[in-house]
Amino acid sequence: MRVSIIYQSTHGNNRLVANHVRNAMTLLGHDVESHNVYDVTPQEVSASDLLVFSAPTHIQRAPRKIRSFLKSLARIGVYGDYALIATRLPDALKLPNARTLDMMEESFEGSGGRIVGKLELISDDMRGPLEEGWEEKVDAFLADIIVTDH
Ligand SMILES: Cc1cc2nc3c(=O)[nH]c(=O)nc-3n(C[C@H](O)[C@H](O)[C@H](O)COP(=O)(O)O)c2cc1C
Repeated sequence: MRVSIIYQSTHGNNRLVANHVRNAMTLLGHDVESHNVYDVTPQEVSASDLLVFSAPTHIQRAPRKIRSFLKSLARIGVYGDYALIATRLPDALKLPNARTLDMMEESFEGSGGRIVGKLELISDDMRGPLEEGWEEKVDAFLADIIVTDH
């Protein structure tokens, strides 16, 4: 299937996640593209069988750029499945609940796509690195998505 990954990343964590998803899905034989949200238009990815979005949490929210991209893409409409990944700081910091994944889902309302999974990954600090074992979490998540897909 045709897979498009769209990520937003200030410090490189979500770019790593996107690269990992791209490599894993390519190994499975899919036709995969990965794009920085600043370097792609919604039109370029609307005809995907699976869309994967990956973004950080900023002020407990999904960053504006990924939200506006999701809204624009929802207006065009998609036919495929989609999955959401967000990174955030650990619960130990006692921040209020991050709404990143929910905000991304809300921004994509009306797109016509079917959500197949949401995954949160933890960043050990503001700039990362990501939690130990994040690659395995992503692999398990992708395995679930692919099962859901059939
Ligand atoms: C300016 C800034 C604000 C952040 N605000 C939050 C926040 O409100 N809640 C949270 O859980 N993490 C917050 N983080 C942590 C990031 O979401 C996390 O480190 C993420 O993995 C960074 O991803 P990136 O490297 O792809 O930009 C913030 C990080 C930065 C740099």
